[in-house]
Amino acid sequence: MRAAYASKFDADDPLAALVVGDRPEPAHPDPDWVTVQVRASSLNHHDIWTLRGVGLPADRLPMILGCDAAGVDPDGNEVVVYPVIPDPGDPRGMSLLSENHPGTLAERVAVPRANLVPKPAGMSFVEAACLPTAWLTAYRMLTTRGRVDEGEAVLVQGAGGGVATAAVVLAVALGKRVYATSRDAGKRDRIAALGATALSPGARLPERVDVVVETVGAATFDHSLKSAAPGARIVVSGATAGYEPSVNLRRVFAMQLEILGSTMGTPAELAGLLDLCARREIRPVIDETLPFSGVPEAFARLLSGNVFGKVVLDHAG
Ligand SMILES: NC(=O)c1ccc[n+]([C@@H]2O[C@H](COP(=O)([O-])OP(=O)(O)OC[C@H]3O[C@@H](n4cnc5c(N)ncnc54)[C@H](OP(=O)(O)O)[C@@H]3O)[C@@H](O)[C@H]2O)c1
Repeated sequence: MRAAYASKFDADDPLAALVVGDRPEPAHPDPDWVTVQVRASSLNHHDIWTLRGVGLPADRLPMILGCDAAGVDPDGNEVVVYPVIPDPGDPRGMSLLSENHPGTLAERVAVPRANLVPKPAGMSFVEAACLPTAWLTAYRMLTTRGRVDEGEAVLVQGAGGGVATAAVVLAVALGKRVYATSRDAGKRDRIAALGATALSPGARLPERVDVVVETVGAATFDHSLKSAAPGARIVVSGATAGYEPSVNLRRVFAMQLEILGSTMGTPAELAGLLDLCARREIRPVIDETLPFSGVPEAFARLLSGNVFGKVVLDHAG
C-alpha cells in the first residue's frame, strides 16, 4: 500500500529521510485490532522529530509516519483514531502510532478496536483528522493540567502551530481572555481574528495570566514565567525551539508557580473535546489540505514553521 515513511534519520535535513512509496499492508495478530481505511490524516511536529531521529530507535526503521487519522472501520463506521496505544513493553506503558506501530500516513492503519471513536456528525474527515494529537494535547493542557476553569486569562506561545492554534480556539470557546504570541505579523492578524490578543514574542501583557500553554520552549519560557500570575500553571507539552531554557527559580517559588508537563490526552478527554467541538460548532484551524501525493510539500511546509494551524492530507485526493 501507499505510505509515507522514515527510511533513515537525518538530524539536519529531515526531508531527506522521508520516502513516499510502497509498504506492506498493516497486519496485527491480536484479534482486538482492526484495520481502518484512512480517509484523511494530519501532520504533527512529532513526524519531523521522527525524521530527525528523535524518539525512534534505528532498529524500527523503516517506520510509517503519522499519529492522526480519520477513516472508515471494517464495519463501515466513520471513525477518528485515538493514537495512544497501550504498550506494556514501553517504559511509558504506551506509545503513539508511528513509534512502536506503523502510523497513519498510509492507505490503511491497524489499531486496537478500543482506539476508535465515532467521527462527530457534521465534521468532515479532513477536519476530524486534526483532532487526535494537536487538539487533544491542547485540550488536556488547558483543562486537566492547566485547570483553566479556575482562572480567567491564558497565554499561548508560538501561536501559529497546530497545538497552539487549537489552544487559542478552545480557550476562547471556554470564555477566557486569551493572549497569544507569534513571531510573524501575518499570523498575529489571524490569531486576532480567532478572538485572542496577539502579541510579538516577549511583549509585556496587559495582565498576568493564570495558564500558559507552552510548546516553544527555550525561546519563550522566560516570557512565560514573567507573564504568570501568582499560582499560575505553566503547562509544557513541547519544546520546538529547545529543551533547556534558563529558569529563574526565584520567580517560580516567589510566585508559587506550577510548571506541569502534559502529553496527549486520555480517551475521556478526547470524548470531552469532541463533545465541546460538537456543542460549540468548533472547527479545527487548517493551514492547508493537500492530496496524499503532496506529502513532500506538506512536510516542507511544516518544517518551514510558516504554518497557521494544521497541515492535512486528504487521502481521496
Ligand atoms: N507532548 C505531546 O503530547 C505533544 C503533542 C503535540 C505536540 N507536541 C510538541 O509541541 C510542539 C508543537 O507541535 P505542533 O505540532 O503544534 O508544531 P507546529 O505546528 O510545527 O508549530 C510550531 C510553532 O512553534 C513556534 N516556533 C517554532 N520555532 C520557534 C522559535 N524558534 N521561536 C518561537 N516560536 C517558535 C511557531 O509559532 P510562530 O511562528 O507563531 O511563532 C510554530 O508555528 C512540538 O515540539 C511537538 O513535538 C507535543
